[in-house]
Amino acid sequence: MADLTLTGKNPSSLKTDALVVGTCSTSDGVAVVADQLPADLVRQIEALAPRLRLTGATDEVRTLPAGDDVRADVLVLTGLGERDSDGTFPRETLRAAAGAAVRSLAGTSSAAIALPVVDEDDLAAVAEGALLGAYAYTPYRSGEPAAERTPVEHVEIVTSSARSARAKAAAHRAEILAAAVHGTRDLVNMPPNDLYPAAFADAAKAAVKELGAKGVKITVLDDKQLVAGGYGGIAGVGQGSTRGPRLVKLTYAPAKATSKVAVVGKGITFDTGGISLKPPASMVTMKSDMAGAAAVLHTVIAAARLGLPVAVTGYLCLAENMPGGAAQRPSDVVTMRGGKTVEITNTDAEGRLVMADGLVAAVEDGHDAVLDIATLTGAQMVALGNRTSGLMGTDSVRDEVKEAADVAGEAFWPMPLPGELKAGLKSLVADMVNSAPDRAGGMLFAGHFLSEFVGDTPWGHLDIAGPSYNEKAPYGYTPAGGTGVGVRTLLAFLEGRAES
Ligand code: BES
Ligand code: MN
Ligand code: ZN
Repeated sequence: MADLTLTGKNPSSLKTDALVVGTCSTSDGVAVVADQLPADLVRQIEALAPRLRLTGATDEVRTLPAGDDVRADVLVLTGLGERDSDGTFPRETLRAAAGAAVRSLAGTSSAAIALPVVDEDDLAAVAEGALLGAYAYTPYRSGEPAAERTPVEHVEIVTSSARSARAKAAAHRAEILAAAVHGTRDLVNMPPNDLYPAAFADAAKAAVKELGAKGVKITVLDDKQLVAGGYGGIAGVGQGSTRGPRLVKLTYAPAKATSKVAVVGKGITFDTGGISLKPPASMVTMKSDMAGAAAVLHTVIAAARLGLPVAVTGYLCLAENMPGGAAQRPSDVVTMRGGKTVEITNTDAEGRLVMADGLVAAVEDGHDAVLDIATLTGAQMVALGNRTSGLMGTDSVRDEVKEAADVAGEAFWPMPLPGELKAGLKSLVADMVNSAPDRAGGMLFAGHFLSEFVGDTPWGHLDIAGPSYNEKAPYGYTPAGGTGVGVRTLLAFLEGRAES
């Protein structure tokens, strides 16, 4: 990951490869948003904006020679769109603008960023965006990585409060947060021949150690222990693969915890659909079906590294959904942890089965709130698209997660759990089916299914099916491939609990 420093110096004087400043659109054209740049340079850029085809729109990044009066070689203009009515820019705009600029600078060693930050929260957003934009996944490429795949190594952020303790704390937090998001992206991007349930459990242990997450304890249940423990959901989904399932539990329990929160993650290391096999086109991105578990792992690690006064237990529900000879069949009935029975009507609705066991385990262990995060349904994408995640659960927790997402700058939207959809759970032979007889409200039906396993514990359900994996072009600080979505929201939720 890139290293991060703060500076209070005049940006024109900084010894760096690239100086990043903002542009914005105003009623009379494009304005350069930088106080301390040479006035001539600013005037020139603003006057030539139409011919440079500059608009100042978000996600517009342009690199120009910096001229003789700026020490950096190049000037990078990153669009901020329009100012808010109070003259400032939204934090998420700053985050994305910093990210887009740094991303465009891959192959460049150092960058200084002079964007308009009015307080520590703005500074944090710029730092986060810059570090999140400095990402590439290269372990599986042979030879030297191409320049465009070498992220910026040194990031310097210009702020008048560079020496303040609060600014330093914001930078420290940004580094921990970015490491967590990068770690999540790495796991999502890892090919499924190498990332199977046991390998994921090992990777979890390694990540706790490497990132120095002191105080995180980790226990692993293997396939035999899962069967013996009555985890019929995880065991059933995993039985079609030669590579058995695992349930990983991560515990961070600081001495003076204000709250105890569980976070359960879906970790299907590859989802073929099982016997209810997916068509090939639907299978291509299914290595990302463990994005929830990856986000949970790195949220627990980040919480520990930040020393948050909140107890957090992470549950990683790991299985590979394969159609092997021992695979579960449509019509099988499985007994879940806790004793409820489920008739499998579609083996491709496997996420809710592994998550149900994880939720029961979380409730058994006693928590003030249980959150779960999963690439659960294709219906999430039909309802909300590829950039907005769905949010369900107990009203109060759902709203608390929504607030956390807003603070973190991640797009989540609250969805209902309409009562009439519950009728679809009815089974002729078991307590419930895992897949509704019709497709209407598929994301919400899955939410209802999960709610059967949380009892009275306040609960929030995050469906990240679309946003967890970017199949299109990169934008802002978001790369193609694994995005790391959810980590920032979960961490903000825990930070909110730490304050109250
Ligand atoms: N992992 C998928 C959901 C998914 C789809 C995530 C596309 C990301 C992108 C999940 O296990 C699944 O297959 N869900 C089924 C449920 C259906 C059988 C009730 C779906 O959405 O089609
Ligand atoms: Mn599936
Ligand atoms: Zn799945």
